[in-house]
Amino acid sequence: MRQMIIAGNWKMHKTVSEAVSFVQELKQQVANTRVEVVVCPPFTALAPVAEALKGSSIALAAQNMHWENQGAFTGEISPLMLKEIGCKYVVLGHSERRQYFGETDETVNKKVKAALEHGLVPIVCVGETLAQREANATEQVVATQTRGALADLSPEQVAGLVIAYEPVWAIGTGKTASDQDAQQVNRYIRQVIAQEFGQSAAEAVRIQYGGSVKPGNARGLMSQPDIDGALVGGASLKVEDFKGIIENSL
Ligand code: G3P
Repeated sequence: MRQMIIAGNWKMHKTVSEAVSFVQELKQQVANTRVEVVVCPPFTALAPVAEALKGSSIALAAQNMHWENQGAFTGEISPLMLKEIGCKYVVLGHSERRQYFGETDETVNKKVKAALEHGLVPIVCVGETLAQREANATEQVVATQTRGALADLSPEQVAGLVIAYEPVWAIGTGKTASDQDAQQVNRYIRQVIAQEFGQSAAEAVRIQYGGSVKPGNARGLMSQPDIDGALVGGASLKVEDFKGIIENSL
């Protein structure tokens, strides 16, 4: 059985004080859930949020990282730094990073390997643009991104990570993939993983859906057999909305 994982990707939102008061409230609200809850604050808030989360089961994730441990890479953050402050997860290959910051399947793969070497669990994002969907290229795009991001990994490594299927046209637009469409693509990604890494890795790997997930549509999406959670943007910024999604995921 795969444990449901709901992660809130705050993107470039929340100062340190806003982030800390958010998690102080959230940890009380979701104390008894069977869902694995993850928050992904911006870098500046990671250490104070880690401190505020002590004693709670909410996990911490970074939104990106470099693949090197250290060096002359102005503005970058390394896996060592994230590990030391208590991150469990790191989001890699988000479409905004691919679109605005030149992230490629190759750099995502380097980051995935570096994360695993340091005991961080990657949340690897894949997903097609609207033009690609309209050209019937969804499967080809997510297969290429999945194979690229996971190249050279062992089946055991793949089994332990998280993939987030986020159709780019559904991110921040209020347009959600239908339950059936999201299920179909998540199932397809699982098939690709089965081909590349074997059946048991495919059955173990958790595959989230992301793109305009809200309390109102979470139940339908999260009840699909190949959807094991959500990567939530906008609706993770308010405790009430995020909690609503968590509650509607079981
Ligand atoms: O990473 C989560 C994200 O890209 C989805 O954003 O605002 O559509 O929930 P949103």
